[in-house]
Amino acid sequence: MQLLLIASVLFTACCAAPQDLSGKMFTFPVESKVARARLLPSGNNFTSATVCLRFFTDLTRNYAIFSTASTVNSNDFLIFKNADKGSFLVNIRSQSSTFNGLPDEPNTWYSICSTWDSNSGLVQVWINGNPSTRKIGFKGNLVGELNIVLGQEQDSVDGGFNAKQSFVGMITDVHMWDYVLSACEIQRFANDLNFTPGDVINWRALDFTIVGDVVIEDSQTNGCFH
Ligand SMILES: *[C@@H]1O[C@H](CO)[C@@H](O)[C@H](O)[C@H]1NC(C)=O
Repeated sequence: MQLLLIASVLFTACCAAPQDLSGKMFTFPVESKVARARLLPSGNNFTSATVCLRFFTDLTRNYAIFSTASTVNSNDFLIFKNADKGSFLVNIRSQSSTFNGLPDEPNTWYSICSTWDSNSGLVQVWINGNPSTRKIGFKGNLVGELNIVLGQEQDSVDGGFNAKQSFVGMITDVHMWDYVLSACEIQRFANDLNFTPGDVINWRALDFTIVGDVVIEDSQTNGCFH
């Protein structure tokens, strides 16, 4: 009995099985410098990547949408909303690219994808399947253990949080691939059609831990039609 108990404690502590969060969302109901979801990626050496997710918020200040830090750099793959209307920032290993004139109405579900390719250094943001201008970013491999956080902006690995950059709202369908998705694949994601799930982060088999006020609920992206 005692052995069994120890075994089960070890099991939960060390190797929680990935969960299928299809049809679920993370709700971040309160502004804080604590509440976050940490996602465990597979892989630690990337020559290109795509991150896609859906989000909903009424924030008009700046906030982090997807924060990735390693011991090498605290902005390894950051998707960030600037306070300026329509302005998003993507930061790959601290090389930042700003994208303007994109849709950001409050209280609206958006799909956002960001692609990055180390050869060309090109970075792009897609909102609801519509592209931004392509901008120059980081050229080189993204090497190191990546700590991915939703809900907070990391200034160090899982730390250096600022409530005024925290995310308040809902996030769902988070995926990351170790390649640049084609325009067609991004549009399939945006329209919630059959798409290839992420091979680095997969919402349908998600390795994650929750800290603070984050609620896992049924997703509201599809209303009654799903
Ligand atoms: C990362 O991958 C590249 C090949 O893309 C390889 O040349 C390099 O040695 C790798 N670096 C590490 C630290 O694994």
